[in-house]
Amino acid sequence: MAPNKIQNLFYFLCLAITFIPSLYANVLESEAFWQDQLRMFDSYWRERAEVARQENEKAYFPDPFAISGNFTSAISWDILGRNGGRRLLKGKNKGAPCVASNPIDRCWRCDPHWADNRQKLANCVMGFGRNTYGGKGGKYYVVTDPSDDELLAPKPGTLRHAVTRTEPLWIIFSRSMVITLQQELIMAGNKTIDGRGFDVHIAHGAGITIQFIKNVIIHGIKVYNIVVKDGGMIRDSETHYGFRTKSDGDGISIFGSSNIWIDHVSMRNCSDGLIDAIMGSTAITISNGHYTDHNEVMLFGASDSYTGDKIMQITLAFNHYGKRCVQRMPRARYGFVHIVNNDYTHWEMYAIGGSKNPTLISEGNRFIAPPNRFAKEITKREYTEEKIWKDWQWRSINDEYLNGAFFIQSGPELKNRPFSTKDMITAKPGTYVGQLTRYAGVLPCRIGHPC
Ligand SMILES: *[C@@H]1O[C@H](CO)[C@@H](O)[C@H](O)[C@H]1NC(C)=O
Ligand SMILES: *[C@@H]1O[C@H](CO)[C@@H](O)[C@H](O)[C@H]1NC(C)=O
Ligand SMILES: *[C@@H]1O[C@H](CO)[C@@H](O)[C@H](O)[C@H]1NC(C)=O
Repeated sequence: MAPNKIQNLFYFLCLAITFIPSLYANVLESEAFWQDQLRMFDSYWRERAEVARQENEKAYFPDPFAISGNFTSAISWDILGRNGGRRLLKGKNKGAPCVASNPIDRCWRCDPHWADNRQKLANCVMGFGRNTYGGKGGKYYVVTDPSDDELLAPKPGTLRHAVTRTEPLWIIFSRSMVITLQQELIMAGNKTIDGRGFDVHIAHGAGITIQFIKNVIIHGIKVYNIVVKDGGMIRDSETHYGFRTKSDGDGISIFGSSNIWIDHVSMRNCSDGLIDAIMGSTAITISNGHYTDHNEVMLFGASDSYTGDKIMQITLAFNHYGKRCVQRMPRARYGFVHIVNNDYTHWEMYAIGGSKNPTLISEGNRFIAPPNRFAKEITKREYTEEKIWKDWQWRSINDEYLNGAFFIQSGPELKNRPFSTKDMITAKPGTYVGQLTRYAGVLPCRIGHPC
């Protein structure tokens, strides 16, 4: 252990000297943060952790290649159509023009009556989060009050009151609002936060915590300028409240949770990660998001020693990593990440990286390298010698590389991927990414109109 630590410290110092933002390493990767967190793990949370661990194991798919392959296949049919013609540009829904440009959106966006049947959205998730239903089947809860003053007894009508209820809920908003969370928003399971129809901001305060629960959909909200908060006594469910230490400053923190779908969010400038998934979280799809102005964008797995992250399975699809994103889109440890049809228009250090043998399948993405000629490499293996990482499966299939971008592949080749089938290919899928991600971020949906 000791020589390793010294080596890490050495690398850290080198990085710190050459690249100042590295000094602000992710909070979740710091020993001090965890020492602090451990104090909070009283018997209540230990019990919840154990229940969640079992649930997460159940949510894990033994054959991730089948899930990711089927998803790619569904997209390719959507793009190319059965006759190899290009359906994408036209896109039709019973004669009405429809601008939905990918198979997830196509499932609901063209319906002018989406607001009368909001829960239909829960049928649209694909990829590893495919079994997520959020608050489907539950009542609608209308958030009318943007305040967040009562952490122990949240006021009815506030977002905190909604997300801490026991029953499944589909949470919507009565109007546009900016919600500044006084402390982290700790959610209970079986919930959908659905911002469609209004302009809903979570900003200038704490972020959203999805801890030891199942079944959450977050759709159509803006999350930005999230800061670390001190913690204190906070309600986490109808039946329990307790002491929380400092929050980590993530926009959305997924902690030991499964069946999570985050779709059409716009996120920027959070003090830690934009979206982090750690502690054995799995069965997650993050799609159609737009991310800007951020250093460490997504961290999947925070600790080299936490092998419980081997069950982590995450799909990243149709996201747009945009202006002033620096690195970690994502940075993964262990686990399996299917990165499909995302648009990487900006990075400053690298796009996709990791350590501890994660499987990274990059398919049909567009990578536009920055002008800096030392930052053209898409990939980054952290703190590992080539003789070790050469066996990690990091494959790039049908990606489009622009402006000198290059992907260093490793590990076994992938066979039988749908996009690789010759007769289905009329163009590189990466070249369609601009269209597939054209509506990434929050959609300006108006009730009574197609979205
Ligand atoms: C993948 O698609 C095939 C063909 O549609 C289907 O038979 C199979 O069950 C799917 N696999 C998974 C894991 O969804
Ligand atoms: C969520 O809903 C399912 C049924 O759909 C139920 O079995 C489960 O207990 C609920 N979970 C929570 C945490 O309420
Ligand atoms: C980022 O968020 C912090 C904290 O809210 C804020 O002080 C800062 O001005 C923001 N930066 C930008 C560029 O918006």
